[in-house]
Amino acid sequence: MSTLRSKDAWQALERHYESMRKRRLRDLFARDADRAKHFSAEAAGWRLDYSKHRVSHATMQHLFALARECKLEARRDAMFAGDKVNNTEHRAALHIALRAPAGSVIECDGENVVPGVHATLDRMAVFADAVRNGDLIGFSGKRIRNIVNIGIGGSDLGPVMAYEALRHYSDRTLRMRFVSNVDHTDFAEAVRDLEPEETLFIVASKTFTTLETMTNAHTARDWLLAAAGSKQAVKKHFVALSTNREAVRKFGIPAMHTFGFEDWVGGRYSMDSAIGLSTMIAIGPRAFGEMLDGFHAMDEHFRNAPLEENLPAIMGLLSVWYTDFFGAETVAVLPYEQYLKRFPAYLQQLTMESNGKRVTRGGKAVDVATGPVFWGEPGTNGQHSFYQLIHQGTRLIPCDFIAFGQSLNPSGRHHDLLLANVIAQAEALAFGKTLKEVRDEGVPASLAPHKVFEGNRPSSLLTAQRLTPATLGALVALYEHSVFVQAAIWDINPFDQWGVELGKVLAKKVAEEIESPRKRLAHDASTNHAIRWYRKARAQ
Ligand code: F6P
Repeated sequence: MSTLRSKDAWQALERHYESMRKRRLRDLFARDADRAKHFSAEAAGWRLDYSKHRVSHATMQHLFALARECKLEARRDAMFAGDKVNNTEHRAALHIALRAPAGSVIECDGENVVPGVHATLDRMAVFADAVRNGDLIGFSGKRIRNIVNIGIGGSDLGPVMAYEALRHYSDRTLRMRFVSNVDHTDFAEAVRDLEPEETLFIVASKTFTTLETMTNAHTARDWLLAAAGSKQAVKKHFVALSTNREAVRKFGIPAMHTFGFEDWVGGRYSMDSAIGLSTMIAIGPRAFGEMLDGFHAMDEHFRNAPLEENLPAIMGLLSVWYTDFFGAETVAVLPYEQYLKRFPAYLQQLTMESNGKRVTRGGKAVDVATGPVFWGEPGTNGQHSFYQLIHQGTRLIPCDFIAFGQSLNPSGRHHDLLLANVIAQAEALAFGKTLKEVRDEGVPASLAPHKVFEGNRPSSLLTAQRLTPATLGALVALYEHSVFVQAAIWDINPFDQWGVELGKVLAKKVAEEIESPRKRLAHDASTNHAIRWYRKARAQ
């Protein structure tokens, strides 16, 4: 059993929860005219207003006490110091070193890793500039114009999210595509209008063994060779981003087209490593550097700010508060910024692959709920789809609203309306509309209950002036560290992902059975039936 429930601060929170669970945001705001000021914090270009959460000053004190009793600060310092905080894989988790300024010292196994990080960044910059300047030439002598990133999970979601988020800053003469699914439709649609002679494939895979990525990479190689005729073309048209240099070499990608990183970079924490090459090609080395600066600014804030003013700590603790005390099962992430349309998908891996764990770091079953489900869509689209449930359903769904003061594509009233909506949604969720207010509007008694908004539904409002490479970097780092804070409270390892293994192993076995129709099947009746059905279907 986890000892979390036995901690003094946890027990104090349990008692405190009894006094908070029925408290209304209406009352909390009525008692404190400066509540928005008292429950907000700023860092790295972001402001977090958490006043619309069901917390009092006492709640926050209890949560900070819990963090201290769980030794959050010591754990954070251990991560920054390069300790092997990923205990089940005996690895450090040093993504913070990926954005450390040149000249800083961060040691792993007694070696300063920062010079290596910057050497790779410099090589990436030379390569990215060559593509952007038109100096990278394909097998026919034409310049490379199409960049296809092949990867999955952290080797896809970060690059796609960053590309979409920073498209405004990207070179529009380049066509960027992303292929992840082993479903061939993904590859076929990505390349159907591309010329092989103008196409560069970036094979992004930390391990360079992932089934989906390697299947797509081989398909890409065949597609290229069908046009080029000679294997020599692979050298010009393929780049690898990987820690597995030997497998890359066997694939035929030369060392000069290989950009490495170390095993202390987890897949879902890798968008600012060599895995970000597509981002750097799209927006250029300088803007990529600004993004890293944004990450670093949030890292420094997380490392140095007292918990009481620390954005990742506050966000992580609020998540624990709702997950474990209010029984909330999900968090909705709602960016009011079209360029962040892939941000919720990116966060799903970051949060759920990290904190979807049921045993502690020591291997004991946890006795509280861990990682909530993250989901979301950009505003205002979600308002016309699932917001009904958030406003009037029976579940409590804390929301993270994200908004910017200025649009990157200003026009007429668009941005005013967008911002009016996000502000109004947070207000409606928090304060709702009582039966009396509904009746006072003259609504007939039979309809009145349908028009009541209970309110008291919590949300954060995260705001920054503009979406820039730097604000994006800081935002991602904010969520990375918030995930870490939650994991520290739950005493789980956010850096491994053993839960993806069983499905991978079974899929390999089933693939062999499908492709060898005479093989005896010894699964359960349902699995056997599905395999037999597909054996027939594929043969027709
Ligand atoms: O299957 C999960 C996972 O291991 C992720 O953690 C990772 O981001 C993804 O697969 C891709 O792995 P790789 O970069 O090694 O291809």
